[in-house]
Amino acid sequence: MAKKTSRQYVCKACGAVHAKWAGQCDACQEWNTLEEMAVEPLAASSATVRAGKGRRVQLHGLGGKVELPPRTGTGIAELDRVLGGGLVPASVVLVGGDPGIGKSTLLLQAASRLAGKGERVLYISGEEAVDQIRLRAIRLGVAQTSLDLAASINVADIVATLEAEPDVKVVVIDSIQTMWLETVESAPGTVSQVRACAFELIRAAKRRGFSLILVGHVTKEGALAGPRVLEHMVDAVMYFEGDRGHQFRILRAAKNRYGATDEIGVFAMTDRGLEEVSNPSALFLAERRGNIAGSAVFAGLEGTRPVLLEVQVLLAPKGGDGAPRRAVVGWDSGRLAMLLAVLETRCGLKLSGMDVYLNVAGGLKVVEPAADLAVAAALVSAASGVPTSPGEVYFGEVGLSGEVRQVAQADARLKEAAKLGFTQAVLPRRIARGSARSRPPEGMSLRELGHISDLVGPDVEAE
Ligand code: TYD
Ligand code: MG
Repeated sequence: MAKKTSRQYVCKACGAVHAKWAGQCDACQEWNTLEEMAVEPLAASSATVRAGKGRRVQLHGLGGKVELPPRTGTGIAELDRVLGGGLVPASVVLVGGDPGIGKSTLLLQAASRLAGKGERVLYISGEEAVDQIRLRAIRLGVAQTSLDLAASINVADIVATLEAEPDVKVVVIDSIQTMWLETVESAPGTVSQVRACAFELIRAAKRRGFSLILVGHVTKEGALAGPRVLEHMVDAVMYFEGDRGHQFRILRAAKNRYGATDEIGVFAMTDRGLEEVSNPSALFLAERRGNIAGSAVFAGLEGTRPVLLEVQVLLAPKGGDGAPRRAVVGWDSGRLAMLLAVLETRCGLKLSGMDVYLNVAGGLKVVEPAADLAVAAALVSAASGVPTSPGEVYFGEVGLSGEVRQVAQADARLKEAAKLGFTQAVLPRRIARGSARSRPPEGMSLRELGHISDLVGPDVEAE
């Protein structure tokens, strides 16, 4: 009987699977991203199951002895932090990010550090020639290490090479979208090719025990199959983010089988490659100008790491007849709309006749609701023309009735603020049951708020 294969359609941008082709993906709303893929029929596999051919698997008690996986530190502390302490043998890490954000730079730096520590490391590029990589290495000041380079896009050749090099510990593939397998009938970068190539490379990594790092480009246009279609195949996924116009780059774990997913690594792109930023707060606040209305410092948390950021608000009289502008960089615009409504309804702060511009300085994107209070303080300060006190930090979530709500890890936030010389913190009022907060750090006084209206003076109103 001829083998019947059915068809399915996979979105290149988000990885959603559809039974029918459509111009737009239902899941992520991107256009022209669905691509056809063959599905193997299930019949053959279910026959094995029905025939009772399976063997019993061994069962284990939950309370057994555990051994933590050994790790190889890359020597770049910010990268190791996101990895959960270093690379795990036979594990696969996918590093995604926009083209030009610095993935190749980061991995070339990490690979040569590892090689410098005596590990056997292979850097395989499908995008650049060996000479180009050498030139970059000279620029990065890492040319004198024993890193092995190869320029190839042929996965069969790469796997054969790896089989012949048993002492290789770490392999970097830059990028998975350029890789190609002869047996798959589609162009490099398509979902079928990307998946098949990743599958072969991952199998080699598991078999030979080396750590594999795959680079994947994320493209909004869906021109290449994005790292999304690989997320479930790998052990860890990290995204390298940042605004190309800004110096800062943030490495963020989206999935990590061997560590926490909420850690970030902070880097600065310089003319000699990526530099680690071990104290991001100091850097993010470096250009802050005190005594200006519309600015407030947020004591935030990225993973387990406290980060202080400046929230800036500019109000301008609404131009034209249309709705006022709400321009937001680094925060959620829906959240801003909510906060404006709360300030207007619960505190009588009238901002509907004003254009509102909100910016989180430094290029970091804040997702924590704990930033509400800092944004509210910046808005109130901009509306009243009264600067917030320069030694003050803010954190707390704001609810729809204007109540200021508790947020996690107040202690860590306070400590970081104290470390950077701040002397006062405005934070949610302690509630009896959840008052785990210990004494504030030395030299810091606390102003506890129960309601957002406590931020607003009696006669604050934007004209
Ligand atoms: P790259 O690592 O090639 O990005 P990706 O691999 O993610 O596509 O980084 C490219 C950008 O980084 C490029 O615009 C130049 C810049 N860059 C520096 O600013 N300094 C450097 O030392 C290097 C190597 C690159
Ligand atoms: Mg690159």
